[in-house]
Amino acid sequence: MTLADELQTERLRLRRWRFEDRAPFARMNADPRVMEHFSAPLTQAESDAVADRIAAHFERHGFAQWAVEIPGITPFAGFIGLSIPRFEAHFTPCVEIGWRLAAEYWNCGYATEGARAALEFGFASLDLQEIVSMTAVGNLRSRRVMEKIGMARSPSDDFDHPLVAEGHPLRRHVLYRLRRPV
Ligand SMILES: CC(C)(COP(=O)(O)OP(=O)(O)OC[C@H]1O[C@@H](n2cnc3c(N)ncnc32)[C@H](O)[C@@H]1OP(=O)(O)O)[C@@H](O)C(=O)NCCC(=O)NCCS
Repeated sequence: MTLADELQTERLRLRRWRFEDRAPFARMNADPRVMEHFSAPLTQAESDAVADRIAAHFERHGFAQWAVEIPGITPFAGFIGLSIPRFEAHFTPCVEIGWRLAAEYWNCGYATEGARAALEFGFASLDLQEIVSMTAVGNLRSRRVMEKIGMARSPSDDFDHPLVAEGHPLRRHVLYRLRRPV
């Protein structure tokens, strides 16, 4: 469709989704380790609904979260990519970078490597002026990836996520920002 169909890094192929990705995606979304900083693990139907939303985002905007393939290791390790949040907050409209990988592939630098390629794509091909990222305050793994790719948090940007119920311990979120390099 567009240039956004595929990005290649040293170890990863970020590609459009295939039907066969849905089973490993559902397994990963049912894993309490992966979903520790979300409201709950997902059922197969909820996981498929996320995959449908990602496909619709690709169709509508020409980019979204890519499926992550690690050639020689696995055809599907999770997703990394760019998306437009579905809610309103003080920093929207914006483009967000995000990631979710199956636990067996954590701590190998894959999220950081794929995120760098997604950032490069966002700035160079989509011509974005800024990319943000957000997560629950306690998600230190994800925050570490944000820091490693050069994003910065200002405490004054912290916010209560409007899609998380009031009073829920995961409602408070941090926001990281990165301006387009000059
Ligand atoms: C967040 C996630 C994508 C990171 O993927 P990854 O490929 O392991 O990331 P990387 O290997 O590139 O970097 C992970 C960093 O976190 C660090 N880290 C790991 N566990 C940590 C912890 N408990 N506390 C603090 N840092 C931690 C690692 O040491 C590494 O940093 P380093 O390179 O300075 O040592 C992965 O953990 C994940 O899918 N988590 C569940 C889903 C999720 O929370 N997604 C984000 C929602 S916003």
